[in-house]
Amino acid sequence: MSRIPQTFIDELLARTDIVELVGSRVTLKKQGREYTACCPFHAEKTPSFYVTPQKQFYHCFGCGAHGTAISFLMEYDNMEFVEAVEELARRAGMDVPRESGPGRRDSEDFQRLIAAQEAAAAHFTDNLRHHPEAVDYLKQRGLTGEIARDYRLGFAPNVRDDLLRTLSGEFEEQELLSAGLATRRDSGPPYDRFRGRIMFPIRDSRGRVVGFGGRLLGPGDPKYLNTPETPVFHKGQHLYGLYEARKASPRLEELLVVEGYMDVIALAQFGLRNAVATLGTATTRDHLERLFRVVPHLVFCFDGDRAGREAAWRALEQTLPVMRDGRQVRFLFLPEGEDPDTLVRREGPEGLQARMRQARPLSDVLIDGLRQRHDAGTREGRAALGAQAARLIRDMPEGLLRAQIINELAQLASVSTDQFERGLGPRAPDDTPAPSPPPRPSPATRRQRLEITPVRLALSVLLDQPTLAQDLGDMHWLEHLNTPGVKVLVQVLETLRQNPHLTTAGLLERWRDSETGRHLLKLAQWQPPPSQEEAVPKLLQDALGRLRQQYIQQRTEALLAKASRAALSDDEKAELKTLLIRKPQ
Ligand code: UTP
Ligand code: MN
Repeated sequence: MSRIPQTFIDELLARTDIVELVGSRVTLKKQGREYTACCPFHAEKTPSFYVTPQKQFYHCFGCGAHGTAISFLMEYDNMEFVEAVEELARRAGMDVPRESGPGRRDSEDFQRLIAAQEAAAAHFTDNLRHHPEAVDYLKQRGLTGEIARDYRLGFAPNVRDDLLRTLSGEFEEQELLSAGLATRRDSGPPYDRFRGRIMFPIRDSRGRVVGFGGRLLGPGDPKYLNTPETPVFHKGQHLYGLYEARKASPRLEELLVVEGYMDVIALAQFGLRNAVATLGTATTRDHLERLFRVVPHLVFCFDGDRAGREAAWRALEQTLPVMRDGRQVRFLFLPEGEDPDTLVRREGPEGLQARMRQARPLSDVLIDGLRQRHDAGTREGRAALGAQAARLIRDMPEGLLRAQIINELAQLASVSTDQFERGLGPRAPDDTPAPSPPPRPSPATRRQRLEITPVRLALSVLLDQPTLAQDLGDMHWLEHLNTPGVKVLVQVLETLRQNPHLTTAGLLERWRDSETGRHLLKLAQWQPPPSQEEAVPKLLQDALGRLRQQYIQQRTEALLAKASRAALSDDEKAELKTLLIRKPQ
């Protein structure tokens, strides 16, 4: 995708100090050879976030966040890959070289789109000064100037090209069209998309405006209008109010997920600054992952009517697959005809908080929902209930919550827990980090979760000390060994031999966003006990030695099998002879 040469990324990571980078955003404490902190990607009270300078990467044993300096900027500052590289280059005083291709333009276009949104936001807020009708509307809805400022509320007057004219000096027509700020009918002249509306800027996690929601001042249709999908704005990912909530409180524990922009704003007006809203869409998996990166607890707010219950069920279906232990989701059903905005005005923040404390746990909503959908009084009903339950539970991460739900559902369906679990079938492939409840990391337990095979051990050692790849002699045979993971090992060895100065982070970057990369990151967590560092080269020798034995065995068997079917060539005969001599019994 990007056209930044890999060698530059290697060099950049070699010059970057991840401890300094992370330390500029999170307070780190030295602990042995590593640095720890409370994880910036989920709320926690005891540190399970580790930065390892030697390998130049970080890992959280609580939420599974991990990666290199580039990943850290992408996650923490919500940068695109290219932006993160540019930022690191700036810090290191290096210029980012480009290979020919569309890479550079992509990132420039992205910046221009953001710049257009920012310029529009500035113009919309400025408009408030000249349009008392807009200010009156906000006042009439009970909002103060402070909230309008914090959320950068603005106004687009009911004029065909108010924004177009204002921004035309700075941006091309085409840019404003791509940014979703202007629109056109067929080939007619472009005009402002948002007219006669209160404007709600939607910000990404760095606070950059990426799009807008706009509400009509008066009656009309559609009441709300959103920015369409653009390269910088994705309804299925962004959440209204998330940036503002994080900004208001750095140690958020819980977020309230509501339906509307005005709900977020009204709650903030009453001091509840932890509400976020989806942008007129149902909650997606992506939304959930983003939210859980910030807090472990979510409360979904829904109308108490039928439509609200249906919406809650859809949210529940999306949520189950990401319910790792430690995460908590509850559902708050509002009285009919109310939304959080009206309710907080009627009952005050205390009233709403009291309701939030009463919100129902996800497992209750799940089990009640299944009960309502099926008649547990008949065998047929129980079977149907069991089948639907199995579909819902199958992709839930292993853990205590899943086990408890399974117990209860098995009882409901009148089958044993074993029978129920067998009915679940295989889980969908799981690319989320280790779902088992995070044990308090102790140096003894936190390193080794995978079974140690020779391939994994060799990879772990190479990730710990990449220079060991240099003097291994002829490793050609490894390509012919048939054992899981060996292809990756061959690739890693090859990469390290061609790039003798590659750091662990540089190595990991080559497998960014792939299944292999995630596997390598897990293996990279391995570390020799401090007392045994000298023994590490020997560990690699041992692992490769064992693989070599396997190879000899496989090759011998293959040649013997062939010999029983046909004549071997002279080379093969010679090879077999050597193999048989060397083969240990
Ligand atoms: P609601 O219709 O419930 O409006 O839409 P609201 O939040 O109570 O707003 P007020 O109080 O009348 O101002 C909830 C959300 O659904 C999306 C918007 O994201 C809105 O915030 N929506 C609604 C649209 O996208 N388009 C619409 O026409 C209406
Ligand atoms: Mn409302």
